Amino acid sequence: MRPVTHKPLLDTVLGRRQERPPIWIMRQAGRYLPEYRQTRTGAKDFLELCYTPDLAVEVTLQPLRRFDLDAAILFSDILVIPDALGQKVRFATGEGPLLEALDVKGIDALERGGALDHLAPVLETVRRLRAVLPAEKTLIGFCGAPWTVATYMLGGRGSPDQWVARKFALEHPEAFDKLIDILVATSIDYLVAQFEAGADVVQIFESWALNLDDTSFARQVMEPNRRIVEGVRQRVPNAPIIGFPRGAAGNLERYAAATGVNALGIDFATPLDFVRTQLPPDLPVQGNLDPLRLVVGGEAMESQVRAILSAFDNRPHIFNLGHGIVPETPIAHVERLVELVKRG
Ligand code: CP3
Repeated sequence: MRPVTHKPLLDTVLGRRQERPPIWIMRQAGRYLPEYRQTRTGAKDFLELCYTPDLAVEVTLQPLRRFDLDAAILFSDILVIPDALGQKVRFATGEGPLLEALDVKGIDALERGGALDHLAPVLETVRRLRAVLPAEKTLIGFCGAPWTVATYMLGGRGSPDQWVARKFALEHPEAFDKLIDILVATSIDYLVAQFEAGADVVQIFESWALNLDDTSFARQVMEPNRRIVEGVRQRVPNAPIIGFPRGAAGNLERYAAATGVNALGIDFATPLDFVRTQLPPDLPVQGNLDPLRLVVGGEAMESQVRAILSAFDNRPHIFNLGHGIVPETPIAHVERLVELVKRG
């Protein structure tokens, strides 16, 4: 049994509704902050930033110095896993991630043995964060879900429809399942190591849970996420886990039930009424403001914040965006958002 904590965000993940919802913001450390852009120049590229604990700790803490957020999220990226498996990953400015796309042979050639050693600097960042964070702040670790990571590994880059990976999964089922098995095993080791280093909660980012039929959703999203939750909890009993299957829509309830995650991240296209009426009333939810409303601010933001607070008022709720904050976001709007959520 984990002790009862006084971390409002962790407590909410564990099912205890708070008087006011705790808040964090996906991608809260990032380019909308001038101090992030400044620190970023201290590393030769984005991955070096992720692998340099001094810099990664600094950027993780930057948003908490400005805003009264309830959690810090480890600064890293979901694509450190392919990098740790020996696939070349590059972040080209303005283009997003670029990888040397895997084929069947490339999957066989992945280097599984040294992945956790490669990720040692990220785990060191978690340890240092644990040591400096105030007791009431929740430390969130994370990984990408196997399917989402596989879309980048197979496609070589982000794509609006994940065509390459969806086709590969159907054309080369054995190789695809092998890749998923590797990602499941590596993600379990990585998340367990994050808990051991001091993470309170982890989030599994399934950013591409859309565009899949029933059968593919079960095989590519639900089953790998379920195996990760089970595998982590075998080694970290009762590990608190947030699942964020972006775009899962009508599959949300099934995803929550099948995977056993403690809390469910809700994207901004999911109707509030659907969450209110179709998901179990005691299931903690996280979300779901459209990041564009935070860019625009004013009534466009405030009316929707009130609608979200009211829709989720009677259940455990963590306030968040429905996807990551974007670089165009004015800092004053983030200040206002936090104030609205915390004080109404
Ligand atoms: O939330 C946080 O503050 C923690 C850090 C974090 C980053 N990426 C930092 C980052 C987290 C949790 C992620 C997750 C991530 N990375 C996801 C899942 C969430 C989502 O957005 O759907 C995905 C799909 C990725 C892959 C990725 N990394 C992409 C597509 C990009 C390019 C897009 C962009 O904004 O440039 C990245 C780069 C990235 N990851 C940046 C940051 C701060 C920007 C890099 C820079 O400074 O240039």
